Amino acid sequence: MVAQTTAPIRTAPPLAKSQPRVMNIQNVSKQYNKQNWGLRDFTLEIGPGVLGLLGPNGAGKSTLMRILATITKATSGTVTWNGADIARSPNQLRAVLGYLPQDFGVYPNLTAVEFLQYMAAIKGLDAKTAKRRIEELLQVVNLVEAAKRPLGSYSGGMKQRVGIAQALLNDPQLLIVDEPTVGLDPEERVRFRNLLSDLSGERIVILSTHIVSDVEAAATHIALINKGQLLRQAAPEELLKELENKVWEWKVSSDELLALKQKYIVSGTIRRSDGVQVRVVHADKPNTNANNVSPNLEDAYLYIIGGGA
Ligand SMILES: Nc1ncnc2c1ncn2[C@@H]1O[C@H](COP(=O)(O)OP(=O)(O)O)[C@@H](O)[C@H]1O
Ligand SMILES: [Mg+2]
Repeated sequence: MVAQTTAPIRTAPPLAKSQPRVMNIQNVSKQYNKQNWGLRDFTLEIGPGVLGLLGPNGAGKSTLMRILATITKATSGTVTWNGADIARSPNQLRAVLGYLPQDFGVYPNLTAVEFLQYMAAIKGLDAKTAKRRIEELLQVVNLVEAAKRPLGSYSGGMKQRVGIAQALLNDPQLLIVDEPTVGLDPEERVRFRNLLSDLSGERIVILSTHIVSDVEAAATHIALINKGQLLRQAAPEELLKELENKVWEWKVSSDELLALKQKYIVSGTIRRSDGVQVRVVHADKPNTNANNVSPNLEDAYLYIIGGGA
């Protein structure tokens, strides 16, 4: 595959600043069955920028995204888009929504152009607008050269980029992408992250992932979610600030490591010839040899998800 940077994004002129653009999630719960809750009393307000929805597998990320994309309804609670209830009037939101589901599948026999034409027709774009928009988007997602090849021959990263292109057909004000980097190789991951941060601007972008480094570069806000509940919403800098003076490194023997892992949140280990350099997140100095080091988002994630905060 040719390594190229993505072309600059050309979209419709930005909306007037006065136009509201806010998603308000109020006390939303989703109960699948007796034992299974996807979400529990989830409350969050989302404005322009890139929101990184970060949490382990089973946390409720896809459940939340499906509700926001009006694919499923909450059991209780309300979600409003610019003040209007999305369960009662979903079409208002659907008109300005782009959604890339976690289990996005492509038709292997269609080319990228054919697939995008098909999706554009479903979304109700007229043929002329669709043609122009597809040409633009193929550049945005860097698939001009591969545009006439069947999707079955595409790599994982290329398929995800087609997925993003279909989500962008209507130039959405709200773009929801669910775990888009799963299955991508490291190079494709980096390219995909760059693409997402280029796409933000006046839009709301909601990106879910269980991988901290996916949101490190792009996210302007982070929502940490676990067991169907919101643990924290903050700017990345705030999370890092919170972890100041709580991250420690020192050297231990291999034998000590296991006990240490049971007692503390270990956010990193590096094997050395004379032992193991451990990185621990803890409010107080855990060991006389421990040195304070500067925190990263992975530390913050483990600390908050692990219940240290
Ligand atoms: N269709 C479903 N039926 C029953 N339980 C489900 C369904 N979808 C998700 N769940 C459950 O809801 C919880 C949250 O799942 P999900 O939203 O997929 O989490 P995530 O996307 O963060 O991995 C999990 O416990 C999962 O097993
Ligand atoms: Mg999911």
